[in-house]
Amino acid sequence: MGFFDCISSDPPIEIFRLTELFNNDKNPSKVNLGAGVYQDENGKMSTLSVVRAVEQSMAQDLTLDKSYLKPIGQDSFCQACLELVLGKQSSSIIENRACSIQGLSGTGCLTIGLKFLYRNGYKIGYISSPTWSNHGSILQSIGFDVKQYRYWNKDKLNLDIDGLLQDLQDAPENSVIILHACSHNPTGCDPTHEQWQQISDVIKQRKLFPFFDFAYHGFSSGDLDQDAWSIRYFADHQKHELLVAQSFAKNFSLYNERIGHLMGIFSSTDIIPKFRSQLTTIIRQIYSNPPVHGARIVATILNNPTLCLQWKDNVRAMYERIQSMRQLLYTKLKQLGTPGNWDHIITQHGMFAFTGLNSRQCQILVQQHHIYLMNDGRINICGITQNNVDQVSKSFYDVVTT
Ligand code: LMR
Repeated sequence: MGFFDCISSDPPIEIFRLTELFNNDKNPSKVNLGAGVYQDENGKMSTLSVVRAVEQSMAQDLTLDKSYLKPIGQDSFCQACLELVLGKQSSSIIENRACSIQGLSGTGCLTIGLKFLYRNGYKIGYISSPTWSNHGSILQSIGFDVKQYRYWNKDKLNLDIDGLLQDLQDAPENSVIILHACSHNPTGCDPTHEQWQQISDVIKQRKLFPFFDFAYHGFSSGDLDQDAWSIRYFADHQKHELLVAQSFAKNFSLYNERIGHLMGIFSSTDIIPKFRSQLTTIIRQIYSNPPVHGARIVATILNNPTLCLQWKDNVRAMYERIQSMRQLLYTKLKQLGTPGNWDHIITQHGMFAFTGLNSRQCQILVQQHHIYLMNDGRINICGITQNNVDQVSKSFYDVVTT
């Protein structure tokens, strides 16, 4: 009898299971609309040209070593991140109330940020319904009582702003509210500026704590300043205290480098050293100190105006390809006379479209059409190309009409 004879397996994690099914599928016309990874017009994931150039010059630089970083990461990286999110003129930066900590992409930064909140008395966490599946899982693993606020109106295929405001209104004081700064995952549906103002008002009135997940900076509008609007409004205009977990997986295409940062904005500058000290402890306990490669790439680019412009062009190009594929899919679905209103395909933002296809239709697409998508109907628009759009739209037509 072994110690672990009685253990059971956990349920599979959908995104990984879907990727594995896709990889094992031998059909040459298979299409991957699953995991949120940017693919180019040939359906390939490629390294950004600006990242490739920086890596090449780093490889020649014999002064770069692989010694330990501080647990909270590299200073030049963290300062550049603050300015990227808030803008150089941000009052939170000028008043020295903002601070960034290097972390392990979105998941890692959410985890250390939530651990910081939990050890300081925050025990209830609200996530949107629906949301990225890892949000609830991370909150739960830390010990939070996880609750949901309404977000998606599945009949009208848009934001349920009344339900959302009501649920925040009813939330107990000191609840942590996880918000998607832009390109909501999975719905692609972002609040308007006016709706963000309403959300900010309720959060302030009810003494809730906003925690922004910022994984798709640049993908909502192609403009990095515009996509940071919600955070800047909360931080600089409305003077909220808040946290932001930003991932550079998507907008730098640095998926497996696990690079991101946790930004905290506080009511006074005195909090900053305490925040840094607590985060040092939290990180020390989990992974001690972060890897350097991704941080060097991002810091080199953000701190060099020429490289930064090139990166912005790279982000803009990814955004434009996504927009053109949204339009193409929409046009094809309309040309086929596919029943239903498909306007949301072109009005949603970011990498994903929340198609409205039900789970039965999604399963048929995977099992019979070799089109891989999440069971809630989310598709990664980047998986669509000129070569496969006819197959995708015809398959959607078939599952909707049978
Ligand atoms: C996604 O939502 O598809 C990505 O963020 C990948 C992941 O880890 O879930």
